[in-house]
Amino acid sequence: DQGNRARLLAANSAAAEFFVDQLRTGGAEPGRRFLGERGFDANAAAHFGVGFAPKSWDELTKHLRSRGYKDDELAAAGLVSSGDRGIYDRFRGRLVWPIRDITGQTVGFGARKLLDDDPGPKYLNTPETPVYHKAQVLYGLDLAKRDISRARQIVVVEGYTDVMACHLAGVTTAVATCGTAFGVDHIKVVRRVLGDDSVGGEVIFTFDPDAAGQKAAMRAFSEEQRFAAQTYVAVAPDGLDPCDLRIHRGDDAVRRLVDEKRPMFEFVIKNQLAQYDLETVEGRAAGLRAAAPVVADIRDAALRPGYTRELARMLGAELGDVQRAVSGAS
Ligand code: GTP
Ligand code: MN
Ligand code: MN
Ligand code: MN
Ligand code: MN
Repeated sequence: DQGNRARLLAANSAAAEFFVDQLRTGGAEPGRRFLGERGFDANAAAHFGVGFAPKSWDELTKHLRSRGYKDDELAAAGLVSSGDRGIYDRFRGRLVWPIRDITGQTVGFGARKLLDDDPGPKYLNTPETPVYHKAQVLYGLDLAKRDISRARQIVVVEGYTDVMACHLAGVTTAVATCGTAFGVDHIKVVRRVLGDDSVGGEVIFTFDPDAAGQKAAMRAFSEEQRFAAQTYVAVAPDGLDPCDLRIHRGDDAVRRLVDEKRPMFEFVIKNQLAQYDLETVEGRAAGLRAAAPVVADIRDAALRPGYTRELARMLGAELGDVQRAVSGAS
């Protein structure tokens, strides 16, 4: 109910303030070092509300109790976990990003461990709560929404640090999913922010060139038809993600990454072909079989002949053979 929701939002907001205050303490040195190494100064951290969860079982719990929050409220907000001896802080010894909804209310947190040997996954998030639904939330949307509507462009990156790097480099239309794949619920959110008939709009995905990134790319492609907007993929050179790209090559390189986006179809066709040895007849036949369905799936009939020619060129194949394969695949 509304009263409960409001309490959970208030608890999240109080926790966000607590984490920000903690970032200034001695114990937060590893967190400040991480931010510094990633090219984020104190202003950047403050802009995104980045904070630190102390390496303690109950500092947040004690703080929020003293502010009048009940244990069951803290549990419902996902700020604490429950054990044999009661509740304990969920986030410990981690750098913490507040995840805000489109209106700017903190609904949850993403938290990164700072030492490889620290326990738990690299990133730990708020669990599902009445106010936090990971399938729908896009990190950074509160900061990006105005520029997304204005530019009719949204850039979807993989992580919190990538969103920060993009915004600081001037790509202020960047958002990220929060520890989950980009899915149909995210598409609904994107369509709403881009404008419902997002014709003329651009959705640009960046993926790490690792296995997880490949999987995410193919998944985004499989949902491509749900966008009226044109979809693109931007892949950074040398396996860098936007955050690393900014550290090593600077703000310009991040902007260039987005400017040099490639159409999703081209990206996926190339990915399909990359799995085969196109030096052999067998490899080219297999590549054609894998890529023809991609071309056949292109909704915009005006684009299909161009991609058919492109595929023929990449394979060094006769146009007629490729046309037949594409027709047969649809
Ligand atoms: P950094 O060193 O933090 O830059 O990580 P990375 O660039 O190697 O991260 P990666 O590309 O693996 O992750 C990007 C995003 O994926 C993060 O911001 C998280 O949202 C999510 N992610 C990564 N690892 C985990 C994990 O162990 N658990 C969960 N839930 N999410 C993760
Ligand atoms: Mn990755
Ligand atoms: Mn499209
Ligand atoms: Mn990274
Ligand atoms: Mn990454």
